[in-house]
Amino acid sequence: MTVLRYKTDSGIAWLTMDNPPLNALSHALRAAVLNGLDRALADPKVKAIVLAGSERAFSSGADIKEFAGGAFYADPFLPAVCDALEAAPKPVIAAISGACMGGGLELALGCHYRVARADAKIAFPEVKLGLIPGAGGTQRFPRLVGLETALNMIVSGATVPAATFKGSPLFDVVTTESAADAAREFAAKLARQGYPVRRVRDLPVKHPQAEAFLQFARTSVTAAARGFAAPLRALEAVGASLTGYAAGIATEQKIFSELMVSPESQALRHAFFAERAAGKVPGLSDKTRTRDIATVAVVGAGTMGGGIAMTFANAGIPVTLLEAKQEALDRGIANIRKFYEGAAAKGKMKPEEATRRAGLITPALDFTAAARADLVIEAVFEDLAVKKSVFQQLDKIAKKGAILATNTSTLDVDAIARFTKRPGDVLGLHFFSPANVMRLLEVVNAAKTRPEVLATALSLARRIGKTAVVSGVCDGFIGNRMLDPYAQQALLMLEEGASPQQVDRAIEKFGFAMGPFRMSDLAGNDISWHIRKRHYAEHPKLRRMRIADRVCELGRFGQKTGLGWYRYEPGKRDAIPDPVVDQIIDEERKALKLTPRKIPDEEIVDRLLYALVNEAAKILEEGIALRASDIDVVYLTGYGFPVQRGGPMFHASRVGLGQVVRRMREFAANKHADPGSWKPAKLLVQLAAAGRTFDDAPAAKQRKSRG
Ligand SMILES: NC(=O)c1ccc[n+]([C@@H]2O[C@H](COP(=O)([O-])OP(=O)(O)OC[C@H]3O[C@@H](n4cnc5c(N)ncnc54)[C@H](O)[C@@H]3O)[C@@H](O)[C@H]2O)c1
Repeated sequence: MTVLRYKTDSGIAWLTMDNPPLNALSHALRAAVLNGLDRALADPKVKAIVLAGSERAFSSGADIKEFAGGAFYADPFLPAVCDALEAAPKPVIAAISGACMGGGLELALGCHYRVARADAKIAFPEVKLGLIPGAGGTQRFPRLVGLETALNMIVSGATVPAATFKGSPLFDVVTTESAADAAREFAAKLARQGYPVRRVRDLPVKHPQAEAFLQFARTSVTAAARGFAAPLRALEAVGASLTGYAAGIATEQKIFSELMVSPESQALRHAFFAERAAGKVPGLSDKTRTRDIATVAVVGAGTMGGGIAMTFANAGIPVTLLEAKQEALDRGIANIRKFYEGAAAKGKMKPEEATRRAGLITPALDFTAAARADLVIEAVFEDLAVKKSVFQQLDKIAKKGAILATNTSTLDVDAIARFTKRPGDVLGLHFFSPANVMRLLEVVNAAKTRPEVLATALSLARRIGKTAVVSGVCDGFIGNRMLDPYAQQALLMLEEGASPQQVDRAIEKFGFAMGPFRMSDLAGNDISWHIRKRHYAEHPKLRRMRIADRVCELGRFGQKTGLGWYRYEPGKRDAIPDPVVDQIIDEERKALKLTPRKIPDEEIVDRLLYALVNEAAKILEEGIALRASDIDVVYLTGYGFPVQRGGPMFHASRVGLGQVVRRMREFAANKHADPGSWKPAKLLVQLAAAGRTFDDAPAAKQRKSRG
């Protein structure tokens, strides 16, 4: 397959990159650019060379699939291609439209001249993958746009239109017409000047007070980097441009190589690929038919229903919001209005935009208002009897072909589907709270869900800005099912000697956005209490979590009541330790006849993490999740797992599954710590014995339900 078209026309050689969709700089494309260049240089009739891409992309940069194997470094390596373009004795013009990012931008900087369409997208996104530009970008870019602008772009990874740089030496021409036409005209201008070349490396780096600026920048980048290494290393590389081109390049190369093998960058790259992979579902393809979703109805205007309605309004999709009682409807609509007014007051959106979005949500009490909706999402109380009555009504009124979804967190979606005569149209859409903010959407593929219904949900998720992960049916689906043993370990550690603040601090130091107790106070302790009570009823022998139950018996439901595992000052969110909770813990320890011991932070972190990992391995084994990386996406986008650790499965694989299993067996020896949960999952034991990782676990054929 050819990845570059070559043609000559009136003294110009056209090298047009053709590696769809985005001209990623694969080994084949790099080699083809170099071959095209050699061919043009060898042809005496060629006076100037134009390097172009497609309308969609000049080039989106490195082909990061090549990072895993050796192809990324294979000859010709991108820096060498950029150098060859720059060293050419005939002028090379980059004709840029669409994405021009990362390695693609570096390729353009290797050219002598650049013409760009005003709407071309310019960026160095490498920091987002824990890297820096590694093909001269940190050295050539400041020579064209100045130290400060270069630093801002490289450190932030921000994308800006080429028009931003109109008039700067970065672009010789910025056009609203075709980049190819502009390049042709520009070549004619060069012809009149005798085809001069201009090499970026020969330009000086300008800044009136470079050292002072870098000093200042270091402070602000350190603060903005939030512990990530790449932004500061980017600053170091850009700063090195002041030391001369050759020395600067050597610094760039050294930093790039170090970051490539850093655990942080590996984790960020994993997270990037994991999100992409999550969208691929066996049995579905681009050709799977999807249904049109033009209007949506949401049933229940509580915490979730309101957030879900706003999610659709934000994407420009009209929503009917249904309630059982006028009072609840008024409250729900008032909350939505308050949210949009607040966003406008804080300057997050224009007042007219806030009004427009709020106006897309129509309140209703009569279910027939949902009759025309293409999708109905139920978000009423977590009670199977209530869900049954709602789905029976929906079955009667919803139009043929409408998709009926439930936002249940724990109930059986297959049972809910059976409340209707059209189970093929039913699935779970499990949003996370606050639904208009959280990125994660678990799409629950029930036993009878039709492929086109699933495909529609996945494409809709993209439209409303959510990251969808497909789950089979089981109690808690992927995320909350794993949270159960995690929360259990947190509570057992209180009995054994830890305090809520010690547990929270230890796991937050590991990188979690919030420890289990702060998180429960935020979500509402009554939610897990409700689930616990159901579990106690279903499994009478289940170990009672008395400390947590007693906290709830006192009405300490968390931030919303001002008291929970911590206490909260009115209007503030700071979690303040509360002696009342310490006393409950103390009394329960005495009742259990336990002498408290000091639990090391390392044990706290390992028990919490491996409780997640063991349940996840079972989820994978059962085919509830399709692949280990889907589980990582769930935890990264929905549960505050630190992205620089790549997710629970990636983290466990990097620690070594053998070590994880050994640690679990240690915990199992502590009889108190093990209410039967530390038996390592079969899959985990198998992978560990074979010296493998979760990456090697075969992608599951989805078992749609557990039962
Ligand atoms: N709160 C969370 O963090 C969260 C997260 C994910 C999923 N969920 C799930 O979302 C659902 C809703 O949870 P929530 O926290 O928004 O509850 P909520 O109590 O805040 O809201 C439920 C709303 O449904 C209304 N309602 C009850 N019966 C109704 C009926 N027959 N017809 C119309 N409206 C009716 C109630 O008046 C109430 O306003 C539950 O299934 C829950 O498990 C909750």
